[in-house]
Amino acid sequence: QAPVITVDGPSGAGKGTLCMRLAEKLQWHLLDSGAIYRVLALAAIHHDVDTTSEDALVPLAANLDVQFIAEGELVKVILEGEDVSATLRTEQVGNQASKVAALPRVREALLRRQRAFAGEPGLIADGRDMGTVVFPQAEVKIFLDASAQERARRRQQQLQEKGVNVTFDRLLSEIQERDDRDRNRAVAPLRPAPDALVLDSTSLSIDEVIEQALAFIES
Ligand code: CDP
Repeated sequence: QAPVITVDGPSGAGKGTLCMRLAEKLQWHLLDSGAIYRVLALAAIHHDVDTTSEDALVPLAANLDVQFIAEGELVKVILEGEDVSATLRTEQVGNQASKVAALPRVREALLRRQRAFAGEPGLIADGRDMGTVVFPQAEVKIFLDASAQERARRRQQQLQEKGVNVTFDRLLSEIQERDDRDRNRAVAPLRPAPDALVLDSTSLSIDEVIEQALAFIES
């Protein structure tokens, strides 16, 4: 079996950047599992499917027509023939994604699709339950955390760079709302696998996070 490195953690801890850099450095495949939940939420919005109805979401999840196309550092996401990469990142979609992600049979329906990303020479898997549920056999597991305040600050900075102004308080409450939902759901709640390295990035730069992750991987 090809090796897997899992990176789990809450929204905004820096998993995306860490995983992209690791995949680039090792030349391994990359699974952004959050994007799959986001695509499902978006498909539900497009098809007017009730995002609280497990019965309606399961067939949608099982039949998702989605492609992930690597383009240099970026991954283009095509849903039913349409490039949805930009829409996918919006807070509205993220919020709906965390709602559909709380439904057990929806998670079950997406398992096989996620596991299919594994393969030679290896996989970097980014998400909430990569080390606990999807790839429990992974040899290297990292849990990347940061305080909610620091994650809201980073998010505000990212948005400002794109010319979007959102108040810190609003971002913080959105992050806390999503954290609560991800941590307190009945199935696959967000928590470190027992064998994960817990890295708190609150006062670390992205380069320091990458350095510590690489040291752990090589140890
Ligand atoms: O980018 P951000 O960290 O804000 O979110 P994301 O990783 O794109 O994930 C969006 C939502 O999908 C999360 O809030 C989770 O509720 C859910 N998710 C999950 O339940 N399991 C995963 N493996 C990945 C994401």
